[in-house]
Order: sequence, then C-alpha cells, then structure tokens
Amino acid sequence: MRTIGILTSGGDAPGMNAAIRAVVRSGISSGMRVMGIQRGYNGLINGEIYEMSRSSVSDIIQRGGTILRTARSEEFRTPEGRKKAYNVLKVFGIEGLVVIGGDGSFTGAQKLSQEFDIKTVGIPGTIDNDLAYTDYTIGFDTALNTVLDAINKLRDTSTSHERVSIVEVMGRHCGDIALYAGLAGGAESIIIPEVDYSFDELCKTIIEGKVRGKIHNLIILAEGVGGAEELAKHIEEVTGIETRATILGHIQRGGSPTAFDRILASRLGAKAVEVLLEGKSQRVVGIRNNKIIDVDINEALAMQRENKHDLYDLAKTLSY
Ligand code: F6P
Repeated sequence: MRTIGILTSGGDAPGMNAAIRAVVRSGISSGMRVMGIQRGYNGLINGEIYEMSRSSVSDIIQRGGTILRTARSEEFRTPEGRKKAYNVLKVFGIEGLVVIGGDGSFTGAQKLSQEFDIKTVGIPGTIDNDLAYTDYTIGFDTALNTVLDAINKLRDTSTSHERVSIVEVMGRHCGDIALYAGLAGGAESIIIPEVDYSFDELCKTIIEGKVRGKIHNLIILAEGVGGAEELAKHIEEVTGIETRATILGHIQRGGSPTAFDRILASRLGAKAVEVLLEGKSQRVVGIRNNKIIDVDINEALAMQRENKHDLYDLAKTLSY
C-alpha cells in the first residue's frame, strides 16, 4: 500500500490530534504517503485533501480538538454520497483509509469497504467510551478528568450552602462518564441509562445522608437519562433541601489530552498503520487488558457493552 488517507469524524475528542500524529509519522516511516482529509466524510466527498508531512503534525500532541476538523455527514450515509467519496479516493490514489471516530463513523467505514475496494481501519475516538470491543476510547480519560475537576469545584460551593448538587454529564446512551466520574468523585448517587433508578430511593439516600451528618449531596446524572433541571426541582420539593443542577455540556469535549489519552492515541495510531500494511481491511483497533488489538469491524459493531454493575455497586458502597 503506497497511499493512505486519514480523517476524523463525529464529535471531536481530546487525543485525536495525538492519533493523527501517530498515523502520519508511522505511515511516513513505513514509506507511505499520508493524505489528510478535512471535515470528515464531508471533506472526503468534496475533495478537501492535502498531503501531510512529519512537520505538519508538529506541536499537536498536546492540543485538544482535531487539526483535520470534523463533521457528521448526512451525505455519506447515502450510497450516492459514498460513491462520490470513492471516486475522490481513486483520484487521489488513496488505497487505505484510517477513520478516527465513534460507532457512526465506523459504520461509514464499514459500508465503504463493503461497497468498494478501499481498505479501512477505525481508531476509537470519542469521549463516550461506548464501544464494546475496546476497554477505552481516545478522549474518555480527558473528559473524565474535566468532569472531576468540575465536581471538585461544585463540592466547595455545595458544602458552603449545604445543598444537593446534580451534575449532568455527556455520554449519549452510555453511562461510563457518569459512572467513572461518580466513583472517582465520591458521588452519593449515580444515575445512568444502564441501571434502573428509583426517585424515592434517591430522596431517601439524600435525607438519610443529611440525618447522618452529610453536609452536601452529589448526584452524577448521565445525559442518556437526562432532565437535570426537573430532577433538581423535584428533589427540592420532596426533601426540602436546596438543589442545583449543572449541565457540563461541551466543556467535556475540550482541553489538552491526558497522558493516558496521548499514549493510547499514539499506540492505536501506530497499530492502525500496521494493520493496513499487513493488507487487512474492515478492522478497528482498540485496547483490551492493556494489549493493543485489532478486531473485525462487523464483529466490533455487533458486540454488546459489558455490564459494569460491579463499579456501580462499589461506588454505592463507598458513598455511604
Ligand atoms: O459523542 C460525543 C458527544 O459529545 C456525546 O456525548 C453527546 O451526546 C454528543 O456528542 C453531542 O453532540 P454535538 O456536539 O453534535 O452537540
């Protein structure tokens, strides 16, 4: 394989730049040309492509976001859009494509490889950590630390006012950001889509905590359950304790990647190049038990996320 392309797609995630750097430098070291495709699949369809060099990825390992920009492409979801993309790939002589993104981006890569003679490999880049085949996705650890930082600050003000504080975090349908942040932040309650919760139980925990001398009460709510403002009102009505909601939003997507995310991104980027050099296609790379792996994309997308009730139960026990 002489020429590969790289794009970032879907929501950005800290560490995407470190992955781009790893793909570009590993690819060039292996004697390949690496073409940067801007604005995800939209940029591919529109031919927004340039050749990358070792120096074009200098000074980006520490930067959040993605230097290639990103987009969610409606056009690429259509067979006509993918045909246009294929034609552009042919014109630029791109034989293999590295896609950094989440499950939607991987589905695009899967379709492209099924319909045309383009080899694809996916690198998991999303703060949500919602891909079952890999223990971690690039950006999750940084987002988690951003949430923790916010929790620490909210603790100060919640303690001063002796309030209940609800923090709503991202993750789409996955509760991992809430679960891990709740455990690491010592939250009293964690509400995630994967575990049913009872409002009455929640209020009981708050009241019992207050009676036992807890000064404030922290609830981490996953956006997949959502409704932080209404929940705050409802809690205040039932418990009589002042309650505030904070929706962290897109702040969770920014910032300099943590060491963990930079190292993960560097290892996965190098592995993606290796997979293409071996002539494989329709693969996704990931990490399992600290080993870098590559998996069939169809298998990866069909896998169900493991249940993390052990972490949920641990957080509950330790919060008492
Ligand atoms: O998938 C990453 C993510 O940040 C989700 O956690 C969130 O639901 C979504 O993207 C937000 O998307 P947008 O940036 O398009 O508002």
